[in-house]
Amino acid sequence: MATGQTTLWDRFLGSMLDPLLDREAMKRQFERIDWQMEADRFRRPGWVYPEYYRSQNFHGIEGGYLNAGAAVSYDPITQYVLPPNEGWVREGVIEAVRSQPRRILDLGCGTGSTTLLLKRRFPEAKVVGLDLSPYMLVMARHKATGEGLQIDWRQGMAEDTGLEENSFDLISLSLLFHETPPAVSQEILRECFRLLRVGGEVVVLDGNQASLRQTPWLMEVFEEPYIAEYAQEDVGDWMRQAGFATVETRTHWWIHQVTRGVKPIPGQEWIEEESVSEGMVFA
Ligand SMILES: C[S@@+](CC[C@H](N)C(=O)[O-])C[C@H]1O[C@@H](n2cnc3c(N)ncnc32)[C@H](O)[C@@H]1O
Repeated sequence: MATGQTTLWDRFLGSMLDPLLDREAMKRQFERIDWQMEADRFRRPGWVYPEYYRSQNFHGIEGGYLNAGAAVSYDPITQYVLPPNEGWVREGVIEAVRSQPRRILDLGCGTGSTTLLLKRRFPEAKVVGLDLSPYMLVMARHKATGEGLQIDWRQGMAEDTGLEENSFDLISLSLLFHETPPAVSQEILRECFRLLRVGGEVVVLDGNQASLRQTPWLMEVFEEPYIAEYAQEDVGDWMRQAGFATVETRTHWWIHQVTRGVKPIPGQEWIEEESVSEGMVFA
């Protein structure tokens, strides 16, 4: 899992987290799964990974997400890097949803932590989790199977999913945009607009852009190749430019933010609140 060079991640966060990680449990998890065979189930023939994705060592991990080590270490590490509490942070997605979605898509679902949360909260909904990494999907599928949750896991590219237009009520994206170049994030939001039915919601949970701008050291220790560009921009503006209406961003603890938008009736740049079902207040 190391890059061979000492990265900022290794020197700072990596060494701080190391004593907290149960390496033996991670090793057992790694050995329990036939990674190549299970990843092959997700791999699509002739699939070409985008350059911005395969060329980067996210969090100092060689090969980024395209290896089993990344999939095994993701959850044990993530629990410590989402203060004040990972579960609470992810609940921010659920709190933002105002409808009772029947078809949910989680883009860049990774090991499925938010996808599972959505399925638990909306058990009747058909839930799809899509990610570029077959290894992250293997992990996600194991988690869902362990809980007896029926989720459709697919390998795919969030900016060009190949899924049917107007076919989802809710699309969530958690912790994705700080890892995609801004131009790609904008493309992904345009794809969300295409995939959602009128009145459908998009919810983005990620790093708080204003807070990140004020704490450049935080961006450095995380070893994220696109986070500095991400911090200079505004997810709410991207959503509006993609066509979404009633766009709101709220700070979720000081380091995270949740942005929500609605696909409006064609020709209208706003949508009456009554047209989405009553639900949790997003303020
Ligand atoms: C930081 S992880 C977030 C995973 C998960 N959403 C979560 O909340 O823990 C980013 C994930 O996005 C995936 N990813 C990055 N770019 C993608 C893209 N263009 N399309 C689909 N998945 C992508 C990565 O493979 C990785 O699993």
